Amino acid sequence: MRSWLGSVKLLGCPQIQRSIATKRSRNRVHSHYMEPIRQQLTKVFTQAFVEKGLESRFGLVTTADRPDLADYQCNGALAGAKSVKRNPRELAQEIVNSVLEKATSQLGTNSLELSIAGPGFINVKLSAELLGKIVDEQSHDRRFGSPVVETPRKVVVDYGGPNIAKGMHVGHLRSSIIGDSVIRIHRFRGDTVIGDNHVGDWGTQMGMLIVETKQKHPSLPYFDPNFQGEYPKEPPVTLADLEQMYPAASKRYAEEGQDEYKKEVLRATDELQSGRRGYKALWQHFVNVTIADLTRDYEKLGIKFDLWLGESFFEDRMPTMVESLKAAGKTEVSDGALVIPLADEKEPEMPPLILVKSGGGFLYHTSDLATAAYRSQEMKVDLALLVVDKRQTLHFKQIIKAAKLTGLAGRAEYKHLPFGTMNGPDGKPFKTRSGGILKLKDLINMINDEARKRLDELQAERPYGKEELEAIAEKVGIATLKYADLKHNRTADYVFDLEKFAKFEGHTGPYLLYATVRIKSILRKALEQGLKPGKILSPIKDSERKLMLELLKFNDVVTTAYNEGEPHHICEYGFNLSQAFNAFYSECHILRETDPTRQSSWLGLSRLTHDQLEFSLSLLGIQVPERM
Ligand code: ARG
Repeated sequence: MRSWLGSVKLLGCPQIQRSIATKRSRNRVHSHYMEPIRQQLTKVFTQAFVEKGLESRFGLVTTADRPDLADYQCNGALAGAKSVKRNPRELAQEIVNSVLEKATSQLGTNSLELSIAGPGFINVKLSAELLGKIVDEQSHDRRFGSPVVETPRKVVVDYGGPNIAKGMHVGHLRSSIIGDSVIRIHRFRGDTVIGDNHVGDWGTQMGMLIVETKQKHPSLPYFDPNFQGEYPKEPPVTLADLEQMYPAASKRYAEEGQDEYKKEVLRATDELQSGRRGYKALWQHFVNVTIADLTRDYEKLGIKFDLWLGESFFEDRMPTMVESLKAAGKTEVSDGALVIPLADEKEPEMPPLILVKSGGGFLYHTSDLATAAYRSQEMKVDLALLVVDKRQTLHFKQIIKAAKLTGLAGRAEYKHLPFGTMNGPDGKPFKTRSGGILKLKDLINMINDEARKRLDELQAERPYGKEELEAIAEKVGIATLKYADLKHNRTADYVFDLEKFAKFEGHTGPYLLYATVRIKSILRKALEQGLKPGKILSPIKDSERKLMLELLKFNDVVTTAYNEGEPHHICEYGFNLSQAFNAFYSECHILRETDPTRQSSWLGLSRLTHDQLEFSLSLLGIQVPERM
């Protein structure tokens, strides 16, 4: 790692997705990166505080709250002075003197302008020369000034999680989109990540489907307990059959006076779970038919799972786990059920985790505890992230606590990343127009139609044909959907307003695509005139300086998104960066500039902005078309 403060050992560079633009710039350094400037400043300030005998934490430098007054700030002199009962402005002055001295030798003469504001805040401004130099460095760094983590971890991300035959609802869609982005962010930071789709394939709904199929086709061999032969390879039902069977069955199951039917369903579920051959074979068909369809849907979203270890995968592990917990004295019998008590002084209200129902049978609790054990003991992960609806918060609190109490979690950290609901205009969880369960295909088609409409408004005549237009509309559609979902605070509920989200102006996916494509076309036009991006110089215009500072924020933004599992920070960043570029582009007339080194510097800055925008979008799982 190179640093203005001397050289620090190289940490290595993990695979990152290569953006088109990255491939284009051959001079980009692949194995070195500089240390981000804010961190370097923090180091210098920390040294200054420590030399005064004060705690290192006072040296923290942050991005300035008031960008009109400063680029960065350090507030540590206030708390630092308080800790030793000194005058804060006086201490601030001493820190300023010490930092200036160090900066001269480490960052260059007159590299920083420091001033004290109010009761002792220290404002930091970078000299134009230093700023230009750092941004030029960043333009040669394939990681845009964002190093890999010091200790990469093995991480499993549990996301998606639809239930077989029940169809995907908006919660599953959100989980898929958020989980996919979380995975991309973790991979970029250097972690080894496994994405696991924990499908619900083992519950009562499977019993319902078995009973329904039996009523329709009673003579199929799956229902003959004496059948010894091989079961047919062809599934006896299509996806359309399943989609029609499940809602009918669950309605009937919930009705009064259907006790016989209910009993039959529960018996079928039990028999399936205890391994009845014909039911297992039939169940496998249900699973295969549904997963084939889900995979096609996910492909459209650009989402690919590494594993599909559904609930059924833990079938054999549940009884052994329960037995060993019992033997270890970790369980209790309560109202006929076998439970792990979880209430303690700190959380007296915490309900117990139910391992075995009274009368036998495992539950969601049981399979999730077995899942947690599997991930720590067999997959040997350091971290498991569960991207699941916030309505399951209590469930995961129980799982996490039980896994810790019993030692099943080992040293792995288990973390729930809850999210809110995507609502329709009626304030209830979003449904398609037909009012039925959300069909991802319908939703995507609906969004793509809207994208096509907007693209037509944008440009009546195009230099490209129908096929490309279709491909562009698809990318715009996916960007609309994903961006709308990711830009909100993860835990917030929001209303899905297609018209608003599909706009080409404002905080939307299409706007960001458009902003990126526009820079691409500026660069293309310049190239047609023989103008190439070159070395980035010290800024001379205000908007240019602001754009540079925005570019330097990338590492902090990605770090926060990574630490908090919150992709919305990257959405906000992309938007701010686009705005900063627009201001720069209208103040600095690149193509009309007469000084060739200035012109190529501005093109260099444009290219860096483009590449960082495109890469930020890729962290959200959004692809940018060549043109729009
Ligand atoms: N299938 C579950 C549902 O629809 C989500 C699964 C989430 N993952 C887990 N390990 N429980 O609610």
